[in-house]
Amino acid sequence: MSQAARPAGPANPANPANPANPASPAKSADLVDAVKVAVLGCGTVGGEVVRLLTNSASDLRSRVGARLELVGVAVKDLDEPLPLDGLDRSLLTEDAVGLAGRADVVVELMGPIEPARSAILAAFAAGASVVTANKALLASHGPELYEAARAAGVDLYFEAAVGGAIPILRPIRESLAGDTVTRILGIVNGTTNYVLDRMTGEGLELADAVRQAQELGYAEADPTADVDGYDAASKAAILASLAFHTRISADDVYREGIGQVTADDVAAAAATDHVIKLLAIVERRGAGSPPEGVIARVHPALVPKSHPLASVRGAFNAIYVEAAAAGELMFYGRGAGGRPTASAVVGDLVTVARHKVSGTLGPGESAYLGLPALPVSQALTRFQIRLVVKDQPGVLAAVSRVIAGEGVSIEAVRQTPGAHGRGLADLTVVTHQATEGALQKTVAALAGLEVVAEVAGALRVEGE
Ligand code: NDP
Ligand code: HSE
Repeated sequence: MSQAARPAGPANPANPANPANPASPAKSADLVDAVKVAVLGCGTVGGEVVRLLTNSASDLRSRVGARLELVGVAVKDLDEPLPLDGLDRSLLTEDAVGLAGRADVVVELMGPIEPARSAILAAFAAGASVVTANKALLASHGPELYEAARAAGVDLYFEAAVGGAIPILRPIRESLAGDTVTRILGIVNGTTNYVLDRMTGEGLELADAVRQAQELGYAEADPTADVDGYDAASKAAILASLAFHTRISADDVYREGIGQVTADDVAAAAATDHVIKLLAIVERRGAGSPPEGVIARVHPALVPKSHPLASVRGAFNAIYVEAAAAGELMFYGRGAGGRPTASAVVGDLVTVARHKVSGTLGPGESAYLGLPALPVSQALTRFQIRLVVKDQPGVLAAVSRVIAGEGVSIEAVRQTPGAHGRGLADLTVVTHQATEGALQKTVAALAGLEVVAEVAGALRVEGE
């Protein structure tokens, strides 16, 4: 579907100005007094959204042109203590799906799939627009949600789903709608960036750093979604879908998390003036060989210390966008945490509430290119391969022969006396760019060499 504003849904005799929902405000600003808002989930992000709505009520009213009236907050257990000091208990309900049918705008912040999906569909069915930060749901059920929003003639906004506070989706969806995006590369998971940063800076163990990230409100309810790269893969799918006007789901994204990154890897990276970052990379391949399509991948990679991505610290995110006419664009900011994420959520809420007031709609799904998802084996990258080898004549020649045999070219080789005992040496090989498939075969072939005692590590090098 094109990115033009969509027509409103079928006429509703109860409220001709706002067709699908009798409770919705009319189209003309002077007829609208309040936009009814329901918040589903009052945790790290939901709590901050409710706080912002309350504390900034007067400003938000002026910006929207109508009052944002909080009509309910869905919580999992009414017997739990109030999620927020001062919150009116009568607003609370355990019936998220029911509440979703009683508002003009529903803000879904429960994550990840059910009952979030059912509540969003109930909201659309009742003519409400939806704002969500739920990347897991969007990356797995995006087309279903877009279609339901389109059929109801309402908005679906999700700026907070990628990059937390960073405005990145609207720039791709709207500002770059006249350009051709070719590649996006970025740090899109705050938890893993925080964890790798602490491992690098303070030598912390992975588990301890993850615990800190949970305490700070960065991690998902199940932090393995962060550590194993699922969260970043969902975000990569959303970025690729918007950038390349194509449906890409989380299942189309090649995914490796940071669970296998060791203190040795971190130290070895530092020794060669690199840092390890979990990167999301989505790229559009032009026609030719391989055929046109989209490659989406998430994996740890070595980034040179001189590269701007290397200095992205803590839970910050940074996203590079390459477009044919615009060239390179960089977006940077807080990628996780309650308040930063709430900023993006409430920004979306203001936008869709304005649409309710004026009777307009934002862009819907744009998937007209329908490009195929290509396998990661076709991605172009470079590898740094760390080998423990026998310290004897002919080793370098044997290693070089195997690498050349896979059609891969060597950029640099560094040998240092091994810390592994007599007769062994550490050999670090950095390749030139080659396909992921050829590089993986190279690593497997090296592991089988008689002179190679161990492949101590193999990491992609990006950003040079
Ligand atoms: P939290 O786990 O802190 O909050 C989720 C809240 O929803 C909890 O209070 C939970 O209750 C509640 N909940 C769960 N099931 C139900 C239900 N059936 N009915 C009503 N309430 C329910 O998560 P976050 O606030 O961190 O994340 C919310 C969403 O925002 C997720 O989709 C997440 O991916 C996304 N997001 C989060 C960011 C962050 O930095 N935290 C950043 C960007 C996006 P209980 O605690 O009792 O289970
Ligand atoms: N768990 C996510 C992260 C939250 O750490 O980036 C922001 O999407």
